[in-house]
Amino acid sequence: MARSTSAPMPDQLWRPLTQHQNLAGKPSHFMTEAKGCYVTDQGGKSYLDTLAGLWCVNVGYGRQELADVAQAQMSKLPYLNPTLTAEPTSTFANTLQDLLGFKGHVYFSASGSEANETAFKIARQHHLQSGKSGQRRFKIISRYRAYHGNTMGALAATGQGERKIGYEPGPPGFVHVMPPYPYRAHPKLTLEEHGEECAHQLEETIIYEGSDTVAAVIMEPIISGGGVLIPPDNYLPRVREICDRYGVVLIFDEVVSGFGRTGSLFGHMHWDTLPDIITFAKGLASGYMPIGATVAREEIFDSFLGEAGDLSHFRQVNTFGGHPVATAVGQKAVEITLEEDLAGNARGVGEYLRGQFQSVIGDNDHVGDIRGMGLLNAVELVEDKDSRTPLNEAGVTGLIAHAFENGVILGRNGNTIPGRCNILLISPPLILDRGDADKIVEAVAAGLGAIRN
Ligand SMILES: Cc1ncc(COP(=O)(O)O)c(C=O)c1O
Repeated sequence: MARSTSAPMPDQLWRPLTQHQNLAGKPSHFMTEAKGCYVTDQGGKSYLDTLAGLWCVNVGYGRQELADVAQAQMSKLPYLNPTLTAEPTSTFANTLQDLLGFKGHVYFSASGSEANETAFKIARQHHLQSGKSGQRRFKIISRYRAYHGNTMGALAATGQGERKIGYEPGPPGFVHVMPPYPYRAHPKLTLEEHGEECAHQLEETIIYEGSDTVAAVIMEPIISGGGVLIPPDNYLPRVREICDRYGVVLIFDEVVSGFGRTGSLFGHMHWDTLPDIITFAKGLASGYMPIGATVAREEIFDSFLGEAGDLSHFRQVNTFGGHPVATAVGQKAVEITLEEDLAGNARGVGEYLRGQFQSVIGDNDHVGDIRGMGLLNAVELVEDKDSRTPLNEAGVTGLIAHAFENGVILGRNGNTIPGRCNILLISPPLILDRGDADKIVEAVAAGLGAIRN
């Protein structure tokens, strides 16, 4: 239906994570195009997008080659029933397999939430069929502060109170433990002792729950949206040992940390620790198409083999899983990531960014901690350095609004932990250069200057 261009646009859009009452009467603010690390609004103002969309546009905006691949695939085979096989889908599965340090099979879906739901179901069915335990293992252990998605199972695994209020109870069988959080660890513990203590708590939790009831542990190698929590070096290897000791499947959620974000191709590579199942989305096709993937080790895949007609196969289908356009674009996006060594750029520019933060705002009393790996970075805001009390809500939102006015989009751990949404998150496209890193630092410094004490 044609709309008169002079009439005001009705706005029926229900936006995520948005308090709509505050928008009443405000005209819609449209973003209309994007290039590199910048998005541009309808008035022609450009914004440096330090969140890469939502942690996903790793190769940057405006890559014509990705649009070309999508167009060619749409013209040739725009969709296929996923129980049949499209060539780009099979090719992309093989590419992912080649990049990982273990042999496995790839199940495609359309988002990170679905990728994690899929991992939980695979883990449970694997235990049922592998015959290693007399009891049905169904519990999933995850960590406070982590985000694993918005569907009921992935939300149940999520350890962020504010994302769940009003939507619980979720499905039973989800248990949480504390993650390493060096900035807020007990001051008497060394970093290594803190890592050991958190791993010990995980082991105790498995024992207390009854190890024969625990199907899987899921964790992001680095908690991302929950505040960029980087574990001590001993933590993930200890988690691996513990999962092996109790026969628990270890799932790494690399929806954010996959494909170069942390300065290596996958987050777990920093600690030389392999999972049994790994999940991807977001940067998998660099945000150009919706896609998720769950890769299970071959031993797990093998437990699904059986005779035709029995029920040992994976009885799930995702209408948009393995979408030929999404996988064709994903293949190209991964090729670009590798060819341009975007992980290397993330490493170098990330280090520069943290160095600049340290020298420009490190002494500010509202800056509690500056941390990150590659281009996954955070500035933890506090009332003052001594108390470490999280900075008040008005201070955090005021800083972000100030930066937005000045053309820099900043993120934070919004609606995560009640009273603790005080962490700025900086996760830009992996093509970021030093000049744009300086702009981010300037915007945060100016925003800090605008906080009323
Ligand atoms: C670590 C992690 N896992 C899973 C998800 C869920 O992904 P999606 O929003 O594509 O469902 C997210 C989304 O932010 C995430 O950050």
